[in-house]
Amino acid sequence: MTTRSKDFFTYENYQEAADFVRSKTRHQPKIGLILGSGLSPLADEIDQADIIRYQDIPHFPHSGVVGHAGQLVIGKLAGQMLITMQGRSHFYEGYLLQHITLPIRVMKLLGVTTLIVTNAAGGINTNFEAGNLMLIIDHLNFVGNGGHNPLRGPNLEEFGPRFPSMAQAYSPQLVGYARQTAQELGITLREGVYAYVAGPSFETPAEIRFLSAVGADAVGMSTVPEVIVANHCGMAVMGISSITNITIRELHSGLETSHEEVLETGKKIVPQLIQLLRAIVEKIE
Ligand code: HPA
Repeated sequence: MTTRSKDFFTYENYQEAADFVRSKTRHQPKIGLILGSGLSPLADEIDQADIIRYQDIPHFPHSGVVGHAGQLVIGKLAGQMLITMQGRSHFYEGYLLQHITLPIRVMKLLGVTTLIVTNAAGGINTNFEAGNLMLIIDHLNFVGNGGHNPLRGPNLEEFGPRFPSMAQAYSPQLVGYARQTAQELGITLREGVYAYVAGPSFETPAEIRFLSAVGADAVGMSTVPEVIVANHCGMAVMGISSITNITIRELHSGLETSHEEVLETGKKIVPQLIQLLRAIVEKIE
């Protein structure tokens, strides 16, 4: 975790990382894709792949979590050039949010205009079942409300304004494509608000009832920092959660959530997620 000691990156740092990536690929990706826990196999669908390990890229955080590979896979999916993050870093690993979101700004410098984020999440909405996909339509940033925002620190005007709006953090156009595509394919696509918590401990039943009361449909430990930084630099964002487990709202239920369960269910959802993403990506201009 070589970047841990550095609190804020300079514009030149982002350029160094982007220059390195550019030197290692023949492609010019326009769409960024982040693969969450258990969803790594999706990167195997990328054709003409140029693979770059995070540990080789200047300033890049590299994740050590089981279920998260650590490499960029740049290549073609459904006729579009994608830069895929096979694995991401998390706040609970000890990284600052500036580290976690560095890859987004690197994508921006490489010419990416659309970001698709995926994650594993616990279902809070009582209509949801483990194995569902959920289109993220908005988020609750509990880590941010606690003071940790990836945009904290000197603002880099080259990327965006000091006080960016988050009124449409998830592109209405992409939400529309996702809805339409799911309908065309006959895939059940739930919709909801994603609550971002720090983890790594899972939520208590009281916390789940609290999150439910304030409007969360699903809860997870990622995604929101990347979405904020992508919006700041003007990318269109779409997010899909795989609901890997149903959260536990009753005390002494005898039930437990585990990382193994998250990875297992994540794996089972992959084929459907691949089918959906392929068809959505095809629609993006
Ligand atoms: N809580 C938080 N993060 C998660 C969960 C959960 O239940 N499932 C997958 N990621």
